[in-house]
Order: sequence, then C-alpha cells, then structure tokens
Amino acid sequence: MSGPGRPFAEGERVMIVDRKKRHYLVTLAPGNQFHTHKGVVRHDDLIGLPEGSWVTSTRAERYVTLRPTLEDTILLMPRGAQVIYPKDLGAIVLLADIGPGVRVLESGVGSGALSIALLRAGADVTGYEIREDFANRARHNVEEFLGPAALDRYHVELRDCYEGIDGTVERVILDLPEPWQVVPHAERAMVTGGTLLAYTPSIVQAARTRERLAVGPWAECKTIEILHRSWHVEGDAVRPDHRMVAHTGFLTYARLIAGESVAGDAVAGDVSDGSAQPGSSPSAR
Ligand SMILES: C[S@@+](CC[C@H](N)C(=O)[O-])C[C@H]1O[C@@H](n2cnc3c(N)ncnc32)[C@H](O)[C@@H]1O
Repeated sequence: MSGPGRPFAEGERVMIVDRKKRHYLVTLAPGNQFHTHKGVVRHDDLIGLPEGSWVTSTRAERYVTLRPTLEDTILLMPRGAQVIYPKDLGAIVLLADIGPGVRVLESGVGSGALSIALLRAGADVTGYEIREDFANRARHNVEEFLGPAALDRYHVELRDCYEGIDGTVERVILDLPEPWQVVPHAERAMVTGGTLLAYTPSIVQAARTRERLAVGPWAECKTIEILHRSWHVEGDAVRPDHRMVAHTGFLTYARLIAGESVAGDAVAGDVSDGSAQPGSSPSAR
C-alpha cells in the first residue's frame, strides 16, 4: 500500500458505504451528524480522516468512506427530471468528442447530469430549458458538484429549443421529447463537421429523428444502444446478475456536412448503420 489517501476537509462531499453496499452522500460540516438505523457517525470524526478509511457508528456499525466519483455523484444527486445514466453519459462524451473548449448547445438540461459530464470534460455549455425549476436545479447541481468556477462555462437560458438556436456551436446534444424539431435549427447554428446527438427513451423518437436527418446535410448517421450488464462474482458462483438496467435510451448521432444531401449520395443522410470499422471508406459501407 502506498499510503493514506488525502484527508477529507470541511465542506467536502463524502460517500459512506455500508456492508450491504448502500451508498450515502454527506457534505461535511463541523457539529453535524450522519444518522442511520445503525447509529450515528459524527462529521467531526470524518473531517481529517484519510479517504478510504473505515469509520464506526455509535452502534458499532462500520462504514467505508470514499470521495464520490462522477458516476456516484450522478446516481446520488438530487433530481427533478430523469437523468441520463452514467453508461450513456460516458458514450455521449466520447461519441460527441467532447473536450476542453468545445462549444456545446445542450437542451433540455433537466437535473444537469449531462451538463456535469460535459463540463467535467472541459466543454463550454449553453443550455436551453423551458422549466425554470429545472434550470435552477441544474445550475445548483453543477455548482454543488463541480464548484462555482464551472458556472463560468455554463449558461442556462429559459427558452424553447424548438424555436431556434442562437449563435454558432460545435455540438448540439439533445434530451427532449421531439429532437427532430431541433435538427433544422442545428443545421443553421452548427459548424460543418459538428456533431448532433439525441438521447431518446423510445426507438420511435430515434426513427423520427433519423427521418429528419436523412433529408438534411448529415453524414455518419447512426443509432446505438448501450447495454450494461453487471456480474455476480463470489467464489465459484460467477454469473450475470439477475437484475440489470435493461433499457434506458437510444443515442442517435450525426455529423453536419456542407450543402444539401442528394438521394443516393455516398455520405449524406441515412447511409451509415454505424457498423463501419475504423479506416473503412464511405464507398465500402
Ligand atoms: C429528461 S429531462 C433532461 C435530463 C438531463 N439530460 C439530465 O441528464 O439531467 C428533459 C428536459 O427537457 C426539457 N424540455 C422539454 N422540451 C423542451 C424544449 N422544447 N426546449 C427546452 N427544454 C425542453 C424539460 O423541461 C426537461 O427538463
């Protein structure tokens, strides 16, 4: 072992994990207490404790203490709207090629889970959201989990994305009921080469989005679903877990290209099924 982890500080968020692998998030404040049916853990016992330490409650229950990862944060954070799950967030960040300074239009922002993933990867995010309570919740969650400096790269506007997009962006990332309504606005607001990505719970929404993409200047269109299956691993009992999150949503992806699409064009519209291997040319698909 290379040594104790960085000690927890006042104001920090700590994840407390019990023997049944239940996770709890607490923000450390002197004098406060974490209550469970197995007794109390005093925050003062956690402040200054190295990450990864065990802590014991007043009723002798032991807990592991860790800093939450981005995945833990998103699963444990307060939410109003349904969040996008980490398995899909990871794919979105890679598919949309999010990195420092990339200008993203995101709509709607909901609870801000996707915003947090995009900002953590370094993007500058403008969010369009029609509900004020969600806009406030998203800003609050971003500040809570990434710190106030992240708000310099996060601008949420109370507006309807179906009515248009202002300015110029490099990515358009959508989690709203009718993404196909935003496709014409993305064609005007996004630079060529930019990526549109729509997360939709239903394949019917994905298909309607693809129909609209197919009549515009779009290439590399694909719709994928991320399957995430955990395994039970205990001695010789090694098998898939009985329960899994069987379905969350579909990711529909496309790149904006110049000019109008032409029927039968080798790259535009609905030609790619996403099965192309790296290095394969459009004509080989
Ligand atoms: C499922 S939530 C988004 C969750 C978010 N991706 C997250 O990870 O936390 C969908 C959001 O879209 C917003 N919305 C729906 N239609 C919209 C529109 N036309 N323009 C802007 N926001 C819209 C809703 O108010 C809601 O907050």
